[in-house]
This record gives sequence, structure tokens and C-alpha cells, in this order.
Amino acid sequence: MINDTIVEQTNFAHSQRNKTSSTMSHPIVGWESKTSVPNHKFSELLSSRSGHLFYEDVDLAQLFMSGERFVSDLDTPLSTPLEFAFLPTIRRKVHEMQQVFADVIDEVGYGGSFEFAFASKANTTEKVVRTALDAGAHLEMSSAGDVEIATRMIDRNHLPPGRQVIANGFKSFGSDYAKRLEGFRRLHDGLTVVVDSISELKHFCESGLEFDIGLRQKRIGQKSEAALDEVNSRFGLSCEDSEIAAKMIEEAPNLRLTMYHTMVGTQMRDPNVFVDRLQGAMHAYAKMRQRPHSLSIFNFGGGMPVAHTLEFEFDYHTLARLMLTNLQQICGEYGVPVPNVMGEFGRYTTAEHAAYFFRIANVKDHGAALPWYMVDGSIMTSFPDVWGLDEHFIVLPLNHLDRPFQRVQLGGMTCDHDDTYPPRGSATPLYLPTVRPGDGLERDGSDDLFIGFFNVGAYQKMLRGVGAGKYCVLPSADELVMDSGDLNQLTSHLIPGQTIDDVLGSLGYGQHGRTSPYERA
Ligand SMILES: Cc1ncc(COP(=O)(O)O)c(C=O)c1O
Repeated sequence: MINDTIVEQTNFAHSQRNKTSSTMSHPIVGWESKTSVPNHKFSELLSSRSGHLFYEDVDLAQLFMSGERFVSDLDTPLSTPLEFAFLPTIRRKVHEMQQVFADVIDEVGYGGSFEFAFASKANTTEKVVRTALDAGAHLEMSSAGDVEIATRMIDRNHLPPGRQVIANGFKSFGSDYAKRLEGFRRLHDGLTVVVDSISELKHFCESGLEFDIGLRQKRIGQKSEAALDEVNSRFGLSCEDSEIAAKMIEEAPNLRLTMYHTMVGTQMRDPNVFVDRLQGAMHAYAKMRQRPHSLSIFNFGGGMPVAHTLEFEFDYHTLARLMLTNLQQICGEYGVPVPNVMGEFGRYTTAEHAAYFFRIANVKDHGAALPWYMVDGSIMTSFPDVWGLDEHFIVLPLNHLDRPFQRVQLGGMTCDHDDTYPPRGSATPLYLPTVRPGDGLERDGSDDLFIGFFNVGAYQKMLRGVGAGKYCVLPSADELVMDSGDLNQLTSHLIPGQTIDDVLGSLGYGQHGRTSPYERA
């Protein structure tokens, strides 16, 4: 477990490096008892009613059963594995965080604004980016491909003129990314290019176009500048380089320093630690603000935590209060106005909107301490953080919650030792409804047990990749996307996953796939 150790934390943004507080014995991923739980509220989003699990008011088991459909535009039962995306959750998250900061700004009399940016690297699918932007988020991006996405969002009226686009990521002189940003600047006024090293300035300086520039500070929580400069991080500028960059920007007629950018971790579960780590950056901001008056935005980057597991608790108001009052105090000490505060919310925006469903295809109870419940897909390729980082996610049954439970382990369909859940070595128990070998699972399907991994909407899809060839030639799943339409009625559509032919094509087999030179000859 890596807690406050100095690591390149933002490089591991998909991980939950500081996930376990000292008082918590293990992450709670589900129902930890043998007794049935037909009616229970597990979280704000998940509850069981009469033995079925509901996500808000969606009866999840019913998606796979014949009979009257809950969602009117689905006329046949769906099959597993199935991805599930519920877009109203994204909207709610954006609005809730905006409200938290609005409340605290009023409460403490803060003189600046709060700006919510969506860090699209957490989930760059079109529907997610569109939904976050439509909810009022600014857009944070990190690569040349993201510039193209932002351009398409402008074309489709999802990125209006007043919206900010923050270009993070490495953009060396003459790179595709830098060139595309130049093109994008002609299209959109609200672009801030955040530079990660001094050499990145050259391209924008020589472009002749006017650019708002942000400086990304190399900072992982140290308060003294000397300690800061010793940090082994490949991100951001040292204190000395920040000074040099600020001076270069001042001297360039077409550049304006508007943003100070930092990032101190991800899934920061203690508001005091979060703000404590930001303190050095707040001082650096205030010191820098004494010179260029154009500097007005303190961007604290990502880190906002969100529930991956059921014991999660976090007081967002406390965090906002600590952050804004610290800024008030520090800016007061330096005699400068408080900044507008921006956060780039990746995990927070997207984690809760998505789930992934499996059917238990087989139960193997052949002498191991716990029976193996075999899912009809792969755990390790669907949620790379589970095997790569021992990450835990909520796992609950979709049906049979009115049966007794038993402690089990999950196995995936690949032939890999690590395709299991909970992660190997984890102390977290997983209980699921009792089904025995051959307990209807392989007969007519009427007694099937379905399970879901929840709050998996951040990073997992991007890390496993969309389409292409998959480990053990497993095709990617269909995806059910639900949204609220007119009159707040739920609408849904199904995005088809891959066929075996699609996978084979990606691997170089078949007519339309990539072929090796040997095959072409
Ligand atoms: C610059 C930057 N901003 C924001 C984020 C999003 O972080 P989180 O998912 O913790 O909100 C990241 C994650 O890598 C990042 O690198």
C-alpha cells in the first residue's frame, strides 16, 4: 500500500493509491452476511426490492428476463456480459459539485468563482463527454486526439463559446498536439494551454496567435521549494523553471499567464490531507500573482474522491470550505486577490454512472476453501485496475437477493491466474446468493444468477480499450446506454459489442483486418 509516499501520483491517476484509511479494515464491496437481503438500501444509487437489485429505479435483473420490459424500447431480453451506462448520474454529479462550491462561496464570502472542468481522460466516450459538457462542465484534455473531440463538440453545439478548454498533457515544439491546438485556437476563444516544461512555450510563442497560458507546477504536496524540486516526477515545472516561464510569458506579446495548475493525487479520501498537500501550491500561486495581474485561476487538478466501495464517506462541503478559506488566508498574507478556483474532475464525474454485468456461467466447488463462481467474461480485462492495482469495486447480485448468501470467489473466462475477484491477497469477503454446481445455471436459464460490478465508469473502459483484439479472443460486450428523455422518461439504446469476426479482424485475420507483411505477400 502506497500512502503518502512520494510517487508519480498523477501518472497513476486511475489508481486509488491512498484508498485505505487507518481505521478501515477492508473495503466493503457487497453484502457481508449469509442472510438474504431482499429489501435494502446499499447506497444512494443501489437498493434491493423484493429480491431484485435496482439502480435508481431500474430493475437490473429484468433486463435479462423475458416478460414485460421495464424499459419500453427494449423488446427482447439482453445477454451478458453487458456494459451499462446511466447518463443522468453524470449530470447529477456535475450539478452537485457546482452546488457544493456555490454554498461554500456564499458561506465564507469567497471573492472568486468555482469552475468545474471534466477531465475527459477518465472516460472519453462521446456520450460521456457530451453529457458532461451539456451539464455545464468545462473540458480538460490531454492529447492531439482530444483536440479533434473538442472540435466535434463545437460542431455539434455541445461546447459553446464561453466554455473553457484546458489543454494539459505533453506538447513539445512542433508536435501534432501543439499544431492542432494552434488550429483549435482559431476556432475557440476559451483555450488555456497548460505548459509542462519551458520548451513547450516556444511553439505557442512563435505561432503569432494570442494564447492564454497555464503553468503546471511540479508539486506533490511538499511545502518547501527545496523539497519540491527533489520530487521524482516527470510532470510539471520546478520552481525555478516556473519563474523563468512566467518571465518568458510576460515578455511575449501574444501570451498571457492566466492559470496556475497543480495536481496532488487522485481519490484523495481525507479533506485535510487533500488541502494540506495543496498548501505549497497555494503559496506559490499567491507569490506568482504578485507579478502578472492576468493570473486569475488556481487549478487544483484532479483528486476528488468518489465511492468505489460501500463504506465510502466524504464531506465535499468540508473540502470546499478548507480549500477556499486556506486560499483566502494565504492570498491575504501575500496581499493579492483570491483566485477563481478550478478543479478537473475525472473519477468523480464518471465512476458512478457505469456498471458491468455478468451471468454466473458455472459454479465449481471442488475442494477450494471457497466455491468458484465463474462469470461469463473476463474480470481482469474488463477492470484492469483490479489485477493491476488490487482495486476493489462494488459487486452485488442482480437477482436472488431473497436467497441465503455464501462467501465465494469469482473467476473469469480467460486462462489467466489473476482473472479473479476479490483481487488475490485481499482480505475483503465477497458474498453472493447460494447457487450450487448445476443449480439451474446450465439448464434453461430461468434460474440464472446475474451479478454486477458497480461504479466502474472511470478509467476502466479507457484502460481496457474499446474494440480491438482482446486477451483470450474474448469479444467486447454490448453496452446499454440509458438516459432521461422528454418528460423525464428513461430512454435506452444498445451499442453492439464485438463479434468474433471483429476481434479476428483486429488481430490480423480476415479480409478487413490488419494483415502482416507475410500474409499480404
Ligand atoms: C492533469 C490532470 N487533471 C485531472 C485528472 C483527473 O483526476 P481524477 O480522476 O482524480 O479526478 C488527471 C488524472 O490523471 C490529470 O492528470
